[in-house]
Amino acid sequence: MAHHHPEDDCSSTGKFPPVPALGACLADTAQPLGKRTHAAFYLRTIGGADAVDAIAVALRNRDDSALLRHELGYILGQMQDMRACTALEEILADTSDDVMVRHEAAEALGAIGAERSVAVLTEFARDAAPEVSQTCQLALDLIGYRNRQSEDTATPLDANPYLSIDPAPSCPKEVPVEELRRQLLDASLPLFARYRAMFSLRNRGTEDAVLALSSAFQDEPNSLFKHEVAYVLGQMAHVASVPALSAVLKDTSEHRMVRHEAAEALGAIGGAEAEALLAAFAGDDAVVVKESCEVALNTIDYWKGGASADGIAA
Ligand SMILES: [Fe+2]
Ligand SMILES: [Fe+2]
Repeated sequence: MAHHHPEDDCSSTGKFPPVPALGACLADTAQPLGKRTHAAFYLRTIGGADAVDAIAVALRNRDDSALLRHELGYILGQMQDMRACTALEEILADTSDDVMVRHEAAEALGAIGAERSVAVLTEFARDAAPEVSQTCQLALDLIGYRNRQSEDTATPLDANPYLSIDPAPSCPKEVPVEELRRQLLDASLPLFARYRAMFSLRNRGTEDAVLALSSAFQDEPNSLFKHEVAYVLGQMAHVASVPALSAVLKDTSEHRMVRHEAAEALGAIGGAEAEALLAAFAGDDAVVVKESCEVALNTIDYWKGGASADGIAA
């Protein structure tokens, strides 16, 4: 826990710190991860060229935490700012970089959806790492879907109650949960179709939907798919998913990307059981899992009003 300096704290003023201060905090690897992540989310909210640049600088630092860098890739996608494309395309094209970071760069390029990125996404849709190649294909599918949509008769889809830009659209509102569940679990379908069912189930938000999503880890070989299921369960933050998410976090043979999302989702749900589990894995051998548990515990503490340790948090 770092010392708390009141001058770092923008919660008292209700205003954001200036972009250069946030950029400096984000780039400072000596600062706690939670604080740096908060700085990145402020930059996202502020937006604009300088904020994009500050995030891109930190994203490019190969010596930095893969957890933080993948978060920065995600944030740049959510900002949907074309000015981030150069950095994201370079990260995706660097096959020596961390696959989690490259995956997030590819997904961000899909979220931005610029025509200029189609070439690099097409090239790396044949990447040796399945997490990367599959993400590139999803991004291409999303861009293709958006292009077709303009000439579409537009069936109403399940509305997204979250503020996220998703890697796939939801399904039409009239598709029953049971059918969505069937499509979610059907490994013979293209990933894009399974993702559409996934986001529809999330948007429905019922316990049935939570349980359908929670069942998707069972006998599923696709790590990318499972990490996204854990992510949407974190957005839903429903207690009914705790058993499934706990099983994922406990399984040390599971892909680190999946376990990381499970840890974050458990952090979002909170409660004694989730907290005990996060504490138990806060020393995990997989660095992104260990760091996810640490950050999640910090956030839980923060909302309890205990941790003012995070100087930039509001
Ligand atoms: Fe991801
Ligand atoms: Fe993640």
